[in-house]
Amino acid sequence: MTTEPAIYPDLRGRSVCVTGAARGLGLAMAEAYARAGCHVLLMDIDGDELDRVRPGLAAGRPDRVIATAAAPVSDEDAVTAALTGFVARTGELSVMVCNAGVSANAPSLDLGLDRWNTALDVNLTGVFVCARAAARIMREGDGGVVLTTSSMYGVTAGPERAAYCATKSAVAALTRVLAVEWAPFGIRANALAPGYVETDLVAQLSAEGRLDTEALRRRTPRGRLGSPGDIAQLALFLSSEVSANITGQVVVSDGGWTADGYAVAAG
Ligand SMILES: NC(=O)c1ccc[n+]([C@@H]2O[C@H](COP(=O)([O-])OP(=O)(O)OC[C@H]3O[C@@H](n4cnc5c(N)ncnc54)[C@H](O)[C@@H]3O)[C@@H](O)[C@H]2O)c1
Repeated sequence: MTTEPAIYPDLRGRSVCVTGAARGLGLAMAEAYARAGCHVLLMDIDGDELDRVRPGLAAGRPDRVIATAAAPVSDEDAVTAALTGFVARTGELSVMVCNAGVSANAPSLDLGLDRWNTALDVNLTGVFVCARAAARIMREGDGGVVLTTSSMYGVTAGPERAAYCATKSAVAALTRVLAVEWAPFGIRANALAPGYVETDLVAQLSAEGRLDTEALRRRTPRGRLGSPGDIAQLALFLSSEVSANITGQVVVSDGGWTADGYAVAAG
């Protein structure tokens, strides 16, 4: 089965910003939007990596604006300036993907408050800041779509993931609030909730023996990890008018992990 993103004609020519776009899921989503004919603003704190990946997205697409912004997602002034500059070039903003996130895995008894605070800053405050900056632009136009990246760990618990689970479930709650509050402006808001996804980082950790992806596969009813393409497909679907009646939802893409309360085969 292909994981190539489907093409949704209504997305062609739309302007999309993706945060955390220098690598991993954010980059996969940015690539999918570019392939779907969108103008794309890649936002990330890692400016060097943005510079490295931008030419790949722009190649062969002279009709699209493929822009970058090196900004921390919780810096409201920097985010607003980046979005305003992008809109000045493309004329509108249709989709905002609030995807940047960090993990802070440690036993709760040992988790330093610095790491706790960083997770809150990026995973929760950053999502709120980016969603709100985008919505302020969208409400002046024809509305739009806000996507947030929660996680299956916003739905279920994992040990040594207190900050991650707490922020990701807060993102789900935040997304529901924004969906209800901004529906009158024509803005939909939904959360993506991936399970384990085989990003380059996960593949590298697995190759180094620091993550047992085989055990994760055995624990997953579908017997596979997610692919970045799975999440990119979901983002395109939720951005398109084909999902016009879906808002305020947390859409889990985890191969059945959270559905399975009888996972005795892991390990
Ligand atoms: N990969 C998975 O298995 C998985 C599963 C569920 C949820 N998620 C979520 O998906 C999102 C992307 O995950 P990923 O695996 O691609 O992560 P990643 O670490 O590969 O990429 C995250 C990107 O966010 C950027 N970033 C970090 N802090 C930032 C900040 N303050 N401002 C702007 N950019 C910042 C990083 O520079 C990086 O490029 C995260 O929110 C993560 O929690 C990932």
